Amino acid sequence: MKGYEKYIPFVPQPITNRTWPDNTITKAPIWCSVDLRDGNQALIDPMNMDEKLEMFHMLVDEIGVKEVEIGFPSASDTDYEICRELIEGGHIPDDVTIQVLVQARPHLIKKTFEAIQGAKHVIFHFYNSTSTLQREVVFRTDVEGVKQIAMDAADLIYEMAQPVIAGGMDLRYEYSPESFMGTEMDAAAEICAAVLDHLHADEAHKVILNLPTTVENCMPNQFADELEYFLRVLPGRERAIISLHPHNDRGTGVATAEAGLLAGAERVEGCLFGNGERTGNVDMINVALNMYVQGVDPELDFSHMERIIDMYERCTKMKIPERMPYGGDLVFTAFSGSHQDAINKGFNYMEEFQTPKWMVPYLPINPHDLGRAYEPVRINSQSGKGGAAFIMNHKFGFDMPKAMHPEFGAIVQKESDKTGVELKSDVIWQLFEQAYLKVSGPYRLLSNKLNADVEDGVAHSHFYGKLQHKDTIFEVSGDGNGPIDAFFNAISGERMDRFDFLDYKEHAISRGSDSQAVAYIQLHDRLTGYDIFGVGIDHNISMASIKGILCAINRGKAVEHEIEAQMAAQQQ
Ligand code: KIV
Ligand code: ZN
Repeated sequence: MKGYEKYIPFVPQPITNRTWPDNTITKAPIWCSVDLRDGNQALIDPMNMDEKLEMFHMLVDEIGVKEVEIGFPSASDTDYEICRELIEGGHIPDDVTIQVLVQARPHLIKKTFEAIQGAKHVIFHFYNSTSTLQREVVFRTDVEGVKQIAMDAADLIYEMAQPVIAGGMDLRYEYSPESFMGTEMDAAAEICAAVLDHLHADEAHKVILNLPTTVENCMPNQFADELEYFLRVLPGRERAIISLHPHNDRGTGVATAEAGLLAGAERVEGCLFGNGERTGNVDMINVALNMYVQGVDPELDFSHMERIIDMYERCTKMKIPERMPYGGDLVFTAFSGSHQDAINKGFNYMEEFQTPKWMVPYLPINPHDLGRAYEPVRINSQSGKGGAAFIMNHKFGFDMPKAMHPEFGAIVQKESDKTGVELKSDVIWQLFEQAYLKVSGPYRLLSNKLNADVEDGVAHSHFYGKLQHKDTIFEVSGDGNGPIDAFFNAISGERMDRFDFLDYKEHAISRGSDSQAVAYIQLHDRLTGYDIFGVGIDHNISMASIKGILCAINRGKAVEHEIEAQMAAQQQ
């Protein structure tokens, strides 16, 4: 037998005229967090009291979860104690229901009733396993056997609940046919209907039927088929709130939850960031934010994602993977040049057309909606020219002309090829500074005078400057119809007179309280044949342009020297 041949394939539920594929998710389900139970029980170091309290408060006070399974009070002393602390310490808001889990066993049920004394709203959640595998391997019984266990537990719970309810507690019931996904659907419906009967469920007193994929063993569409079939054959479906409890063994917990909602479920149990046994429970954040980006209010608040992550990582000692949907470190980062470019265009488009809708390619959600710092573009050797320009614009306020992107992109690319590591934005800034702002020679402007006036509607500028080239100091002056023209006329006939003016762009930049102008100048070098950019910054916009020209000329000279050096090397 080959390795894979020993596995028993999932047997799909036959169903005709399925309707779930035509449905869409249009409203939030009831959410129940099982972080303090299913999530906690699967931790290497389960949470202590303070950590559980912190997580509970995050869930209810900040995220807005209204139902929280707080533990398994009959199974562990710490779970019992947290239950008591939550109740006695007044931690539970009036609109929040705590849920307690218990196996369908009499002594545990009794202990659980003790644990919840004094609480206002409680869901009493009991379970037993019903699947073919568990019936055969664990309980060695048949459907009647597991049904009897469930009915006996339901009877005891119902009986014990009456005085508690009479005493003022809002107590509801939840039943889980554990390993529902591996149970024959007719049998699951029969067991669940019996439980509903024994709990005296009716439309006014609905019982939560929680249908777990305890171990995910089928595709989400197959689960949806099971659920649609189950709901068709369940007697008195209106007596139940249908709840999902997906695990993630096949990596499709989120899809199973979504498919289950399409097939008629009304409630989802899950954990933050998919914590839970083995591969985890369904990631509640993922399901909720998937709705959010489809324009559906998930009725949960994740606008402070960094704080949630911080709490989660501290309390669980788990790490959020970098590519975790919505929460991962890298999910708002584009390394690919074409992605960076499209993101850039998306932002510009939204600004230009003031679109109320989110229209940024490659970013399915606005990171600001999650309170995340926007760091969309990171630079590595795979990044293109647009990424560095994007960082210079969005992080440092330098909106380079499009034609300059390839030039600066090549400088950045060279550095990233050299280092082989990601270039952080401060390195991008240093490269920009070195390439454009700290260019100090060979030509230096020692002093200058610039006059600009308009006479009879005609603009006129005069430029005078004292320049230094290596050890030589020389003076130039010239007139023109604008400062740039005057400067070019001033240097006409000098050795630096081999550059043609091509284009320029300017804008204001604020650096601290200081507002200055930046000019980007593009020149053509007739000697080398290259087009080259220079950048100038000054309080005076005309001077910014002149500094930009000088910068481009100096950079052009550097290119000339580079070419000379290369040629010399080739000749050797
Ligand atoms: O995964 C599961 O089946 C459970 C039940 C106890 C609900 O956690
Ligand atoms: Zn579970």
